[in-house]
Amino acid sequence: MLSQVSQINAGSAEELEALRIKYLSKKGEITALFNEFRNVPNEQKRELGQLLNQLRQETEGRISELREQINDKCQMSAEKLDLTRTPDPIDLGTRHPLSLVREEIEEIFSRIGFTVAQGPEVEDDKHVYGMLNFAPEHPARDMQDTFFVEKEIGVQKPTDILLRSHTSSVQTRVMTSRKPPIRVLCPGRVYRNEAISARAHCFFHQVEGLYVDKNVSFADLREALLYFSKEMFGPETKIRLRPSYFPFTEPSAEMDISCNICGGTGCSFCKGTGWVEILGCGMVDPNVLESCGIDSKEYSGYAFGMGVERITNLKYRVKDLRLFSENDVRFLKQFESC
Ligand code: PHE
Repeated sequence: MLSQVSQINAGSAEELEALRIKYLSKKGEITALFNEFRNVPNEQKRELGQLLNQLRQETEGRISELREQINDKCQMSAEKLDLTRTPDPIDLGTRHPLSLVREEIEEIFSRIGFTVAQGPEVEDDKHVYGMLNFAPEHPARDMQDTFFVEKEIGVQKPTDILLRSHTSSVQTRVMTSRKPPIRVLCPGRVYRNEAISARAHCFFHQVEGLYVDKNVSFADLREALLYFSKEMFGPETKIRLRPSYFPFTEPSAEMDISCNICGGTGCSFCKGTGWVEILGCGMVDPNVLESCGIDSKEYSGYAFGMGVERITNLKYRVKDLRLFSENDVRFLKQFESC
């Protein structure tokens, strides 16, 4: 047995521990020999005792020798692992053109005191239409048909839960939760049920603006929009306001900017008119202020809403709106350095 000690071998710390238990633990084979020792005849005790002690010592020695070898091996492989090595480079993505433009709009309006407010995309009839002065069966609702959501609340199944068709719903959320002066910008995704052509999208993005205070006038609205247009499209940009209709503003207008592609002389983009429409706006209808609990005799306000896709189109001359939602990196990468 003594001659076999040097042949004990283990490849891992676990294997080594198993060997230690096999030979040296309380129930180990060598310990068992020591237990048998008392049955040995007296005259053999001296010689056998020496041999047994030698066996135990050599086994212990071999086990600690193996332990050192295993520890050295672990250390070497840890040294081979170069923790300072630069990892393989990860390709950085780019920001989506719609996000770039949305952020630019927010940035421009923040310079004249607007802060960003958010509202839910899944809304109810009240906030999207009712409080914004849309009468229940009024044809103005047809201009903004949307998708309705079936939702069970207890035993009730309300039928007025819907995807918001414009960010004007955030106006009602803000006006009912804050007191004037209010000066907010509300960016977000909106939905329309408009499957009129293969190019039509069910969703797009808008940025809404709302300013409510004492003595807010149409001239303030025009000035803010002119400032925005010049900052966004260049100092030579002109604007024009055309009368329009929205249930929640009175008077209402649509705003055009001078075509930034031909400079106003007429091209295929502006259909030869020199102007392109970019937003709807107007003075907040007193009925809307009142439905949100704001005294319309004391306060007045203006609001506007623009489509982010449209502004991006003008800014970067993107021909096909579908490119915005196709996630094609060949398209998205082109905005890297913008
Ligand atoms: N909500 C309108 C739309 O989606 C735009 C708008 C906003 C008009 C604010 C006037 C005031 O067409």
